[in-house]
Amino acid sequence: MTPNKRAYKGCRDFLPAQMRVRDYLFNQMKKTADSFAYEAYDGPLLEEVDLYRAKSGEELINDQIYSFIDRGNREVAIRPEMTPTLARMVAGIHKQVAKPLRWYSIPNLMRYEKPQRGRVREHWQFNVDIFGAPTNLGEIEIINVIIHFFTSFGADASMFSLNLNDRRFVDAVFTQLLKLEKEDAYKLYKVLDKSKKISVEKLDTMISEIISEKTKQDLFKEYLALANFDDLVRFVDKNKLQEFCAEFYEFTTLLNELSLTKYVQYDPTIVRGLDYYTGIVFEIFDKHPDNNRAIAGGGAYANLLQIFNEAPLAGVGFGLGDVTLKDFLESHKLLPNLNKPKFDLFIAYTNTDDQKHSLELANKLRANHLNIETYLGKIKFNKIFKLAESKGYQFVAVIETRDGKTQIQIKDLTQNTQDYFDLTEYEKIIQLISKDK
Ligand code: HAM
Repeated sequence: MTPNKRAYKGCRDFLPAQMRVRDYLFNQMKKTADSFAYEAYDGPLLEEVDLYRAKSGEELINDQIYSFIDRGNREVAIRPEMTPTLARMVAGIHKQVAKPLRWYSIPNLMRYEKPQRGRVREHWQFNVDIFGAPTNLGEIEIINVIIHFFTSFGADASMFSLNLNDRRFVDAVFTQLLKLEKEDAYKLYKVLDKSKKISVEKLDTMISEIISEKTKQDLFKEYLALANFDDLVRFVDKNKLQEFCAEFYEFTTLLNELSLTKYVQYDPTIVRGLDYYTGIVFEIFDKHPDNNRAIAGGGAYANLLQIFNEAPLAGVGFGLGDVTLKDFLESHKLLPNLNKPKFDLFIAYTNTDDQKHSLELANKLRANHLNIETYLGKIKFNKIFKLAESKGYQFVAVIETRDGKTQIQIKDLTQNTQDYFDLTEYEKIIQLISKDK
């Protein structure tokens, strides 16, 4: 059979044009991580499936994981998320290192999903996590990081919102108010996680399958209707759940102090599909009507290290997908023009004798950290500037003979100016073409 020229379903080829965008996004991610002093890490593409079985949730294990039996009879998976790998790595070293531990990564992940807008089978995910931070301070820092990341592109509160909930409060609603057994509480979590994606009728049916009593169904619907923090406080007071919300309230006070509340919204449907979260949980939503998927999601997870028989260590973090991020930036016109590559100088010559000068000039400039393309072979003078312009260059060097002397003409295609230099005047050329860098 003739092999397919297209990439495997739901996966992308990154030709240079797409790679420019990816590099730009990854650089922004690195800049944000650096500015909060997070260090980069990475892990293997393959993990044993048991790593995910412990706490990643049934949807990931049953429907999404790419798994196979290796030649040594181990059941392995291509990583569908990074957090279990991270927890495994941290479990191995956390006793020897100072806390908090601040780490980030940009892994590619694979999930067997139906490809559609905002959903693919292979995506790259910016993961930022902190371990061992004091109560609420890790949560606040992680929220600060993600909001900083969005505002660094020029995004504001009209474009995205961070929807937030607290699993400790949801647990209290499920066990104290609705008196659900563990198994039913788990099922109701899954219903909540899907509630925005299904019809009201379907939601009603699913709720009544788990909660049989009418008064309790109504109580749950009252919970589902909470639209903001004020509603939440009223509900908590009415149902005497204050003791389960103390840390959540303290957290919202910190949000206020950092002026982050304008980006944040209380949302009772946010619980997250992954099972390891234990406290604050959140998702970032794009407010553009074309993009109805979460751009990022995360939260606090206190017990993930316990799967390795380690003592609990507070972790908080988020994962942010490259596909949804790109859709967001494009829809809100926040992506810079990356149509052309950005190299510093295009060098050409019209006379074969000048080839050596071209190569020499190029290497001198490269040694000074400039990025240089040389045209290979001689070229007609009237073709040089058009060619350089089509490749996106601002500066062009033409080696030519003027008044019987070999000189370098530096043409600035943006300003439409030209300057002439002797072959040895590298410093001046570097100064000229670096002036806007
Ligand atoms: P998640 O919510 O499964 O969380 O994924 C985080 C983000 O990755 C999503 O909001 C979405 O933007 C992107 N994403 C996920 N699946 C796909 C897909 N099939 N196609 C395109 N984008 C996708 C986690 O994975 C957690 N481990 C994040 C985390 C880190 N929590 C704490 N630390």
